Amino acid sequence: MRMKSLTILVCAGLALAACSVSTPSPAPSQFNTTTSMADVMNRIIDPVAQRMLRRSGSIDTAEGTKTILPASDAEWQLAENEATILIESGNLLLIPSRIKKLDDKDTDWVKYTNLMVQLAQEERAAIIAKDGDKMFDIGAKIWDEACTGCHKKYVIPTLPRS
Ligand code: HEC
Repeated sequence: MRMKSLTILVCAGLALAACSVSTPSPAPSQFNTTTSMADVMNRIIDPVAQRMLRRSGSIDTAEGTKTILPASDAEWQLAENEATILIESGNLLLIPSRIKKLDDKDTDWVKYTNLMVQLAQEERAAIIAKDGDKMFDIGAKIWDEACTGCHKKYVIPTLPRS
């Protein structure tokens, strides 16, 4: 009886020792992040945001000011697709290894991404309501506040000074 409990104790001690020696290795990520941030921006987020912006607003022509809006059901569908792509693109920026922090307390990356997603959701609602003015205003807000906000903090300071 004594022997048995001793064995258990030894084993427990060994298990503990093994546990404290092994350094926890990071779990393999389920995300594939081989696409660079520049490609995520240049090939996914930027083209879709540009297409969205061109779908609403107005242009001055020789005949006067013309309102721009999607001209067919198919174009309205494309507009809604684009807003949806931008909403989901936020998740690409929130993959943990892509999140930038200037220090431990810095949560602005997530803040700007959430702003981009929230505005893209508002844009999608405006598209569904076929509210061209709202589409234009929200589109401009996405550029001015979400894109530029994040770039001002995380991109511009890193650019080489000329
Ligand atoms: C949460 C932060 C964040 C948001 C939001 C964001 N970007 Fe970026 N963007 C970056 C970072 C970081 C880079 C620099 C990427 C690099 O070159 O490594 C970048 C770079 C870019 C570039 C240049 C890519 C290059 O060649 O280096 C473009 C264009 C761009 N973003 C467009 C946009 C647009 C349009 C939006 C909004 C619809 C947007 N970004 C929103 C972080 C952000």
